[in-house]
Amino acid sequence: MAVERIGVVGLGAMGAGIAQVAVEAGFDVVGREVTAELGEAAAGRIVHFLTRKVEKGQRTEDERDAAVARLATTTELDALADCDLVIEAIVEELDAKRELFAQLERLCRPDAILATNTSALSVTEIAAATSSPERVVGMHYFNPAPLMPLVEVVRAELSSDEAVATALDVVERMGKVAVPCHDTPGFVVNRVLIPLLNDCVRVIDEARVTPESLDAAMTNGAGWPMGPCTLLDLVGIDVHVHASEALYEKLREPRMAAPPRLVAMRNAGLLGRKSGRGFYAYD
Ligand SMILES: NC(=O)c1ccc[n+]([C@@H]2O[C@H](COP(=O)([O-])OP(=O)(O)OC[C@H]3O[C@@H](n4cnc5c(N)ncnc54)[C@H](O)[C@@H]3O)[C@@H](O)[C@H]2O)c1
Repeated sequence: MAVERIGVVGLGAMGAGIAQVAVEAGFDVVGREVTAELGEAAAGRIVHFLTRKVEKGQRTEDERDAAVARLATTTELDALADCDLVIEAIVEELDAKRELFAQLERLCRPDAILATNTSALSVTEIAAATSSPERVVGMHYFNPAPLMPLVEVVRAELSSDEAVATALDVVERMGKVAVPCHDTPGFVVNRVLIPLLNDCVRVIDEARVTPESLDAAMTNGAGWPMGPCTLLDLVGIDVHVHASEALYEKLREPRMAAPPRLVAMRNAGLLGRKSGRGFYAYD
């Protein structure tokens, strides 16, 4: 199916970024938030980022205006009824996502594809809340979606070839890099990155190095573009601990469990850039 109209449910950090990428690529987008204020705030952020692109000479004013005109926000889920594809980016809670997918199945056309942006939940379990799991896939964008090229296109147990092919086509039309994979905990990137970052944090205590030294070691000795502590501050300590806990629950591998140092930081509100303090302090 040639997708023209995309619904995005949840316009938080990820949903607003996905909506921006979609309108920039020429899709019509209707974004659903729980309140009009949250929807308007998300639309305002998208206009702001597109305007920054105009200022940097990456877009013309006409292109920005055309992209903004393709975006609508709503609080009514029914407004997504005529979408060809709906991408869900609400809170990372299985029950909330299952309830939403059951609603989406009732109101969307039978041929519409339903995608979840979940990081660590099972796409198959989300799909099982519907009676048409063949049309459900994962489309896992990375944060911030407008800047990060990768989208993991996740095939759940009962996803149809057509649903996967449609998602791959949309990702390509958005100018992103698609990596198709199966529905296993952490998919590809988080399955590798989460235990690796946890190891890095354990090394701070084992080798008695500072976060600065660890970052210097990994950038200068392993060619990482950014040190692990800098990366964790960027991702958010709370987001990383939550993902670690979800992967540990599923895989029971000790390396997946968040190190006590990170749990303590999360509990103390040292969340990284978003709270102004994590491994490092930010203005
Ligand atoms: N933040 C990341 O780094 C990241 C990366 C990849 C994937 N994800 C996944 O993306 C999803 C969203 O994460 P986020 O960081 O954008 O969260 P967020 O808290 O920034 O945004 C979630 C938004 O969804 C809204 N919402 C909740 N229930 C809703 C509903 N029923 N209908 C419409 N809107 C609803 C909330 O008001 C909120 O604005 C999660 O599943 C998360 O695991 C997050």
